[in-house]
Amino acid sequence: MRSAIITLENLSFGYDKTLILDGVNVSISEGEFIGIFGPNGGGKTTLLKLMLGMLTPLKGKVEIFGTTSRQIGYVPQVARFDKDFPISVFDVVRMGCLSQMKWWGGYPKTVRAQVNLALEAVGLADLANHSFGTLSGGQAQRVLIARAIVNHPKLLILDEPTASVDPHAEQQIFQLLQELNKTLTIVMVTHDLQTIIDKAQRLLCVHKQVTTLKAKEVCEHFALGLYHTPLTTKDHFKL
Ligand SMILES: Nc1ncnc2c1ncn2[C@@H]1O[C@H](COP(=O)(O)OP(=O)(O)OP(=O)(O)O)[C@@H](O)[C@H]1O
Ligand SMILES: [Mg+2]
Repeated sequence: MRSAIITLENLSFGYDKTLILDGVNVSISEGEFIGIFGPNGGGKTTLLKLMLGMLTPLKGKVEIFGTTSRQIGYVPQVARFDKDFPISVFDVVRMGCLSQMKWWGGYPKTVRAQVNLALEAVGLADLANHSFGTLSGGQAQRVLIARAIVNHPKLLILDEPTASVDPHAEQQIFQLLQELNKTLTIVMVTHDLQTIIDKAQRLLCVHKQVTTLKAKEVCEHFALGLYHTPLTTKDHFKL
């Protein structure tokens, strides 16, 4: 049995009095590839932010094992970058090393090699000196993945990294994530169920509650219509 890297225990959260997440119990093991899906507004992004420690639960707790929340890589949903802002691909990835910055604003010498390695890992070493604003949607997403992994996290959290890219770029991103999954744990929100069913070991459906499903069970739900009520009741499935 692999050890847990993150657990959410009896967790509830709301931005105001309305609960967005209620009674969530999830445990993610080291090395897993977890897909997260669910209706718009169901609480997927909120769940990720709770994992990252960017939000505090109203009830329950988030526990992170063997790493700190600062060592979690994060690719946020639709990162809006001003396309005209003059920043190189190298500099975008280096932003992932901000925690290593010295008091006078310089980076340690080792950071250059770290950035180049991350760019190699996502297959974009050749573009280091290009302007970030000139990249295609798929390339830009891979640069943001490089930024998220540059500091060697054990857990990589991505919020719809394939939402605004073409099908070819999407396949490249999924392949890259499968490669990265050999050395780190991945939690990814996506609406592309067809692809995630093949890649992820488990899927979490987030709809105020969180239901854990295996790929086969998600397929059964296609037949029934997604997000129907029993999906949110855990005991519907004998897991
Ligand atoms: N900062 C905020 N303040 C108040 N309400 C918020 C805030 N962020 C999100 N919400 C609300 O919380 C609910 C869950 O939002 P969340 O972004 O987690 O959903 P989601 O599942 O990620 O949706 P999507 O698929 O559209 O990305 C929504 O009703 C949303 O309007
Ligand atoms: Mg979201």
